[in-house]
Amino acid sequence: MDTQRQRIALTGDRPTGKLHLGHYIGSLKQRVDLQTSADVLIMIADGQALTDHADRPETVRAHILEVLLDYLAVGLDPNSTTIFIQSKVSALTELTSYYLNLITWNRLKHNPTVKLEIQQKGFGDEVPAGFMIYPVSQAADITAFDADIVPVGDDQIPMIELTVEIVRKFNRLYKKEVLKEPKALVPSIARLPGIDGKAKMGKSLKNAIYLSDTSSDLEKKIKQMYTDPNHTKIEDPGQVEGNPVFTYLDAFATDHLHVQSMKEHYQRGGLADVKVKQYLFEVLNTFLTPIRERRKALSDDVTYLWGILKQGTLIANQRASQTLNRVRSAIGIDYPI
Ligand code: TRP
Repeated sequence: MDTQRQRIALTGDRPTGKLHLGHYIGSLKQRVDLQTSADVLIMIADGQALTDHADRPETVRAHILEVLLDYLAVGLDPNSTTIFIQSKVSALTELTSYYLNLITWNRLKHNPTVKLEIQQKGFGDEVPAGFMIYPVSQAADITAFDADIVPVGDDQIPMIELTVEIVRKFNRLYKKEVLKEPKALVPSIARLPGIDGKAKMGKSLKNAIYLSDTSSDLEKKIKQMYTDPNHTKIEDPGQVEGNPVFTYLDAFATDHLHVQSMKEHYQRGGLADVKVKQYLFEVLNTFLTPIRERRKALSDDVTYLWGILKQGTLIANQRASQTLNRVRSAIGIDYPI
């Protein structure tokens, strides 16, 4: 008999937009691959989304099913993966409140991902307090389910580091191995650049290709794509490193030999950007067509979609409340009333 305990994987996404190729490379692909070997939980992080969308709750609400559709379209199977809604699992907010006492304000202020987001979102001095502490609520999300692994892009590494700190502090302070230390599972291409060549593809950066984009959207976006700015004449040698068109090919093309020969040709000179882009369009359209079709086939059955979330949230509540009981008793606030 197999006595090895299955590893537990937990991740999530904020439902503030549809998911894009950056999400796929950063985490969705890993989740799909893990489904057969691990116990996978996926959280639609509406609570975290509200930390910078308190004034736009309708955006968050509208994207719950959109994100779920993206999950199902890429092949996450609700029969083997637990998909749930963060705000419907109240144990998570209670855990957050206890963890907040284990970490300093100063520590939170120096989180590099949070700092970058504050800049990008233009908060200035008006950073919502909930936003500053979202990494602590993320530690609650991860530990509530005893996750061993967290499949995420590299921007989430500071969150996992903070989670490990909280776990160690908790177990040390309350003298018991109550919480489990997680590890980040970061893919080899940890970050897909935007079509504008910026380091990260992001909804708010308006440089994303969505899993739900039509083939004509896709064609337009690829035509606009940033390449090597010094490759002005076809016969000029072009640069492959840092050229997003080639980064995308590395991430999505299956014919690696063909990509390699295109790279060599481009570097030598004589290969036009339009030619490379044409090939990229073929590759991405082949990848996205079945995803688009599955998404469309499922999108009308709203009852089915909410049913998946209801079932997943039921399981998530059972599991998280067990952790919460352990936490309360370790702290010593498990009163007999
Ligand atoms: N911070 C993640 C994002 O911005 C979403 C998220 C919330 C998450 N809780 C999580 C990811 C727990 C991994 C584990 O997309």
